[in-house]
Amino acid sequence: MDYVKENLVYNPAILFRGLPAETADDFLTITQAIPGKAMSYAGGGVPRPQVLQKSGIYYTSTEDEVYSIDLHHEMAYGKSYTSKLFFFCVQEPADGCGGETPLVKSSDILSDLDPEVVRKFKEKGVKYARYLPDKSSSDYMTWQQQYYTNNREEAETIARSLFDNVYWDDKDNMYWSHVNPAFHPHPKTGEKIWFNQATTHHRTYYKSLPSFSGTDIPDDKYPTNTYYGDGSEIEPEVIQHLRAVSWSCAVGFRWRKGDLLVLDNMAVRHGRIGFKGEREILLHMTADT
Ligand SMILES: [Fe+2]
Repeated sequence: MDYVKENLVYNPAILFRGLPAETADDFLTITQAIPGKAMSYAGGGVPRPQVLQKSGIYYTSTEDEVYSIDLHHEMAYGKSYTSKLFFFCVQEPADGCGGETPLVKSSDILSDLDPEVVRKFKEKGVKYARYLPDKSSSDYMTWQQQYYTNNREEAETIARSLFDNVYWDDKDNMYWSHVNPAFHPHPKTGEKIWFNQATTHHRTYYKSLPSFSGTDIPDDKYPTNTYYGDGSEIEPEVIQHLRAVSWSCAVGFRWRKGDLLVLDNMAVRHGRIGFKGEREILLHMTADT
C-alpha cells in the first residue's frame, strides 16, 4: 500500500493485475492491510449489500445489469467524503458481454465544460434531494436498505450526520436534502476539484431506466434528484451538456479476475457499462486520516 500512498496523488487510477488473490476472502485480507478509516456506505445512493457483516466490503451495485450507470464520484452528496476506492474483481464479465468500468478524470471534464455552466455551479452549488420509502411500501431503495437497519432512530441519526435537512412523512418514508459546493478541495493537493453528482442523482437518470419507464411519478418521489444550490431547476440542456462532456472524456476499463483497481475518488469518476451474464466486482472505501 506504500505504492498507492506515494503514487495515487499523481496517478489517480492504479490497476494491480496478477496479484495472488481471487476471492472475497482474499480481498478482505488486502483491505485489512489498507491504512485509513474504512467508510460505511450507510446513507449511500444505490442498493449495495455488504459481502460480510461489518467487513467494509460491499457488492458494488445490485442495480439491473441491463443498463449503464452514469459517471460519478462516490458519495459526493453529503458532509463526509470517501477519498479512496478499492475495487476487486471476483468474476470478470465474459468478453463481448459489456460490464466495463469507464473512468474519467474530473480535471478533464472541467476543462471541456462551458465556462458559464461552471461559473453558475461555482456560485450556487448543488442541492441533492433524496426519497427513501419505507419497506412496507417499496422493495427498492428503502431507508432500511440504505441505512442497513430496521431502526428508524438509528437511520435518522446516520442521515443527520450526513445531510442538513432530514424529515419523514406520516407513512414512515424518509426524505433528505443537502446543499454541497460543486467544487471540493483535494485533501492532498488542495486543488479545487469539480466534485459533485449533479447528473447521476438528477431524476432524468432514473427516467431513462427500464424500471421507471412509462411511470408518471412526482419529482420528489424519484429516488434522487438534484437542483442548483438555491433550489432552482438545472436546465435540461445543462444536464445534457454535463453528461456529454463526462462521457466524451471517459476511457473504458475491462476487468480480469483478481484485478485490484484503486481510485482517487476526488480526482476520478467511474461508472458501469451494462452487461450480460456474470460479473462480480467488490468495493472497499476509505477516508484519509
Ligand atoms: Fe460508484
